[in-house]
Amino acid sequence: MPTLKIHHIGYLVKKIEKAKQAFAALGYLVEQDTVYDDIRKVDICFLVKNGYRVELVSPVSEDSVVAGLLKKYKNAPYHICYEADDPAAAYAELTANGFAAIDTPTPAPALGGRKVVFLTSPVIGMVELIY
Ligand code: NI
Repeated sequence: MPTLKIHHIGYLVKKIEKAKQAFAALGYLVEQDTVYDDIRKVDICFLVKNGYRVELVSPVSEDSVVAGLLKKYKNAPYHICYEADDPAAAYAELTANGFAAIDTPTPAPALGGRKVVFLTSPVIGMVELIY
């Protein structure tokens, strides 16, 4: 069984600057300021507190991959991202356990171009795997 480590909690927000201020009031520090992901058409900012990392994700246009999710969930956490010692094995393990890939491993500009893939489970929703 490959080891999975939590990398971040993905948090959908409509207004990223105001969300940063709200998280600052809770004591979060900016780890990496806003980066535009031109593949997913979202702004992304990483915040940290007590060893936890939160990723703010905000759609920049109506055809962003998360525009529909924001309408559905409003401002809310919507995925947990995992890092694996062996991503291919982790991916195989997840898909063998009821997770279905909803895209293919694709570079993430906010993670320095590392690839990520999103999977969904019918019982726990969306997860992200750094690939
Ligand atoms: Ni994420």
